[in-house]
Amino acid sequence: MADNWTRVAAVADVEEGKCIGVKAGKRDIAIYHMDGAFYATDNICSHEYALLSEGWMEKGCIECPLHAAQFDIKTGKALSAPADTDLRVYEIKAEGADLLVKL
Ligand code: FES
Repeated sequence: MADNWTRVAAVADVEEGKCIGVKAGKRDIAIYHMDGAFYATDNICSHEYALLSEGWMEKGCIECPLHAAQFDIKTGKALSAPADTDLRVYEIKAEGADLLVKL
């Protein structure tokens, strides 16, 4: 299958230490800027419905704003209850001023 890189944001939209939520087609994706690199995961919590981009980033994890489950930003791994399903992660790259995610 052909690569499907989709522009989701400008590099300047995601400050270091922050995360934003974007729509890519029908998907909600969270884009993180952490230690100089970018990461992307599903933005909808795997527990119930909450946007992780409205949660808190700390020590490489994102904490859900609703019931405080934590996920590893790099791997999507569910690290704490009540979530027990990992998040999907996406490849992301900066190209010039744009951020592209592979869907
Ligand atoms: S919705 Fe995220 S932990 Fe419950």
